Amino acid sequence: MDWRVPLADIDFGIAEEEAVGKVIRSGWLSMGEVTKGFEQEFAAFIGAKHTLAVTNATAALHLACLAAGIGPGDEVIVPSLTFVATANAVRYTGATPVFADVESLDWLNISPASIEACITERTRAILVVHYAGFPCDMPAIMDIARRHNLTVLEDSAHAIGSTLAGRTLGTWGAVGCFSFFSNKNMTTGEGGMLATDDDALAERLRILRSHGMTSLSWDRHKGHAYTYDVVDLGYNYRIDEMRAALGRVQLGKLPGYNQRRQHLTSLYRELLTELAPEVQMPFGEERGASCYHILPVLLPPGTDRIHFMEGLKSHGIQTSIHYPPVHQFQIYHKEWQQRGASLPLTEEAAARQVTLPLYPTMREEQVEWVAQAVKETLGFL
Ligand SMILES: Cc1ncc(COP(=O)(O)O)c(C=O)c1O
Repeated sequence: MDWRVPLADIDFGIAEEEAVGKVIRSGWLSMGEVTKGFEQEFAAFIGAKHTLAVTNATAALHLACLAAGIGPGDEVIVPSLTFVATANAVRYTGATPVFADVESLDWLNISPASIEACITERTRAILVVHYAGFPCDMPAIMDIARRHNLTVLEDSAHAIGSTLAGRTLGTWGAVGCFSFFSNKNMTTGEGGMLATDDDALAERLRILRSHGMTSLSWDRHKGHAYTYDVVDLGYNYRIDEMRAALGRVQLGKLPGYNQRRQHLTSLYRELLTELAPEVQMPFGEERGASCYHILPVLLPPGTDRIHFMEGLKSHGIQTSIHYPPVHQFQIYHKEWQQRGASLPLTEEAAARQVTLPLYPTMREEQVEWVAQAVKETLGFL
């Protein structure tokens, strides 16, 4: 469909084309100098000691859980209002994701009080998600982790460049996981990054990323190694040089993109407050600095969401839902029901939530069209 206003859009130009062309002409296509450069630049940008580029954030989350020693019999506390990959990564290790509720309808991130209520003798870690790029309450979550001796992992797929108390999201916990999927604040098509300040975790992640091997093809190509041992059950979660090249160009553009997203989000807030005050815009409170990954709103209670989304579609405006809550998916639901817990705020937010278009190349006029279409559509429902 040819949208008048798509949900998201990429911004690739001559710099990305040239960077990929250069890699192709170099003759070295998988994890080499370009990947190393991308990792170093990303580490400097977020302020992490170690970064490791991987195939995608799902792989990053899987490796983060494994490196943290999570396995069968363990429980990991996660939000349900997230992309399913967050919970799946826990499941891949044989551990059980335990879903915690969100803070409130105004701040759709995992609630410290709900985390605390989920802790059992089996709990090993808390895997937070900085939904839409807005910070979780990290000081409170780190305090809970300290008191209960739990590891904190961060799904920072949405939060590339967000900060809290001057610290980049993804560097608060033991390991941060970032996504460069095509709708993210910077993209390599598919791609991800791990970040940690812990030398031992970094080494374990490095080995797990490439088959559990002690040396890489690149090391052997450079004459640094002739053979290798396999010391762990690893995976092939490596990135390639073309994607790393895209990542370096996109990282350079990211601060400008994030500023533009912030500007457009403020404009949305102003226009929707005026034109459709019955629509709730979460994340209005001042807390850290977001990278404004997406623009989530909550429709008035009782609104037929599908009719609303169809109404916007008739104006050529694409919308989405972030997210159908993970605990309600078939593969998690039964086990969750047996636990007998409830997530009232997550369920209400998820039922009323719609995501409006937001991307750095979006024009102010397009934000105005969307706000006007929201008003008109709600008027008809
Ligand atoms: C919150 C969250 N976690 C994890 C992922 C998985 O990222 P990837 O597509 O890079 O595997 C996504 C991607 O959409 C996401 O939004």
